[in-house]
Amino acid sequence: MCGIVGAVAKRNITPILLQGLKRLEYRGYDSCGVALHVDGMLQRSRSTARVAELEAQVEKSGLSGFTGIAHTRWATHGAPASHNAHPHFSRERIALVHNGIIENHDELRAELKAAGYEFESQTDTEVIAHLVDQMYTGDLFETVQQAVKRLHGAYAIAVFCRDEPHRVVGARQGSPLIVGVGDGENFLASDAMALAGITDQIIYLEEGDVVDLQLQRCWIVDSDGKPADRPVRTVHAHSGAAELGPYRHYMQKEIFEQPRAIGDTLEGVTGIMPELFGDKAYDIFKKIDSVLILACGTSYYAGLTAKYWLESIAQIPVNVEIASEYRYRDSVPNPKALVVTISQSGETADTLAALKHARSMDMTNTLTICNVATSAMVRECALAYITRAGVEVGVASTKAFTTQLAALFLLTLTLAQVRGRLSEEQEATCLKAMRHLPVAISSVLALEPQIIAWAEEFARKENALFLGRGMHYPIALEGALKLKEISYIHAEAYPAGELKHGPLALVTEEMPVVTVAPNDALIEKLKSNMQEVRARGGQLYVFADADSKIASSEGLHVIRMPEHYGKLSPILHVIPLQLLAYHTALARGTDVDKPRNLAKSVTVE
Ligand code: G6P
Repeated sequence: MCGIVGAVAKRNITPILLQGLKRLEYRGYDSCGVALHVDGMLQRSRSTARVAELEAQVEKSGLSGFTGIAHTRWATHGAPASHNAHPHFSRERIALVHNGIIENHDELRAELKAAGYEFESQTDTEVIAHLVDQMYTGDLFETVQQAVKRLHGAYAIAVFCRDEPHRVVGARQGSPLIVGVGDGENFLASDAMALAGITDQIIYLEEGDVVDLQLQRCWIVDSDGKPADRPVRTVHAHSGAAELGPYRHYMQKEIFEQPRAIGDTLEGVTGIMPELFGDKAYDIFKKIDSVLILACGTSYYAGLTAKYWLESIAQIPVNVEIASEYRYRDSVPNPKALVVTISQSGETADTLAALKHARSMDMTNTLTICNVATSAMVRECALAYITRAGVEVGVASTKAFTTQLAALFLLTLTLAQVRGRLSEEQEATCLKAMRHLPVAISSVLALEPQIIAWAEEFARKENALFLGRGMHYPIALEGALKLKEISYIHAEAYPAGELKHGPLALVTEEMPVVTVAPNDALIEKLKSNMQEVRARGGQLYVFADADSKIASSEGLHVIRMPEHYGKLSPILHVIPLQLLAYHTALARGTDVDKPRNLAKSVTVE
């Protein structure tokens, strides 16, 4: 979702801004733009194509300068069109980019129109540009501090002014923004990765902060206008976008990285101990009586899977809530619950807001399972477990999901231990199985050729059903999500027992029904559900363990999973579903890594 880069330097910053935008491309966008201070004037270039096209445009026009801002836009207010792309100008004096949503934009627009401002776009961002211009006192830093007080909603902004050539001002509330501190030059960006290779000295702005960037000055005030001393951290962010290696897409690369990602996530786990989650973990785990999981998208499905583990192994009650629902619904707070947020990016607006909502109701035992150690989520939770998937570029999450599952299984064992429900023997068996996961995943990845053959069939379909039972039901949900996200085939998942309560009406010969069928306690029930599908002519595509005793026959296609993996089986069973979605999308020729309308990092609600 929207990406921001800004810079004040004594050298031409155009390549830095464009490089930064390229590194933010993975977040998802539909237009982009850059504005620079050039000879006492504002100049910009905008495009509804990729950053590479913007770069060509900029090169052609020879646009260069020492002070400027750049942006990738993911449309919220107004279509993806050049006139809606950022940066927005006000009266050729103010240039501004924005990530977030301004809720009172209508009211402000009416006010600014009445004051004579003309609007070129449908965006809420242009409102901020005009507001800053209207309130301009001759000091941009002072003006922005006053202007943001009029904004309701979420924003990260970067702004500069024609009359102050060596200054960029940034502000954040609800959307991420970081400062990169250089030697006689300073930068702003949505995340540290955008500045990789430029500076590793990073300041994470806090809610309500406003920052004044000049060549030799980086001055931050908080929402009350008081000087704020924010630590400068050394962040070794690498541009994960750089190396695609032998793969065609990042999603494919990330699917195949899973053995390494899981290995790294579990590296250093020599035994089950609460300290793995933070110094205060034992004290917190000891006093909790339930778990509340908050997340969105794929991370939510990781949470749903964990509920099965936590309730059966640690015997602790678990609620899993979609963050965007939880944050607005009346719920009964339980201060003894462990609130667990799950997030790849650690910046998802709804998950952060849900966490804040829980905390506002005295639920302060917080833990995050997160892939970005420097993210807002990690900073705001008392405890954290960092998955070590590495940078995930593909919008459709893969390695982040399986590493989240690995971390959640570890949490399950830890809570079981604290609650006296894990014998030493069980601990040893589980640890052994976890250590074997990278090898087990590699053998599942070897099924790719068989899955490609299925994908060719799927590419011709417009609908698909996914079935699972028990802890494999969330895996069916994740499989359906993967397929719809990147191949645009309508896909739904059901717990197989629900089939007869509705979805069976959809089953015809045209309907492929993907079934996740490990040999667990529910296998016989699942087989009956499969019969119900076959009896209506539905085509079954089944991922079954050797022990499941399901053989291919007319209308029943089977891919045999290499081994049955007990409680950890969801981690293995999701992998063929990722590959099926990937190869189906490939066969349909969609933009696999950047599916239409979707964003990687959802920093607006
Ligand atoms: C977006 C991404 C998904 C992700 C979800 C939650 O929708 O495209 O892949 O699962 O956001 O993101 P998070 O970073 O909080 O896990």
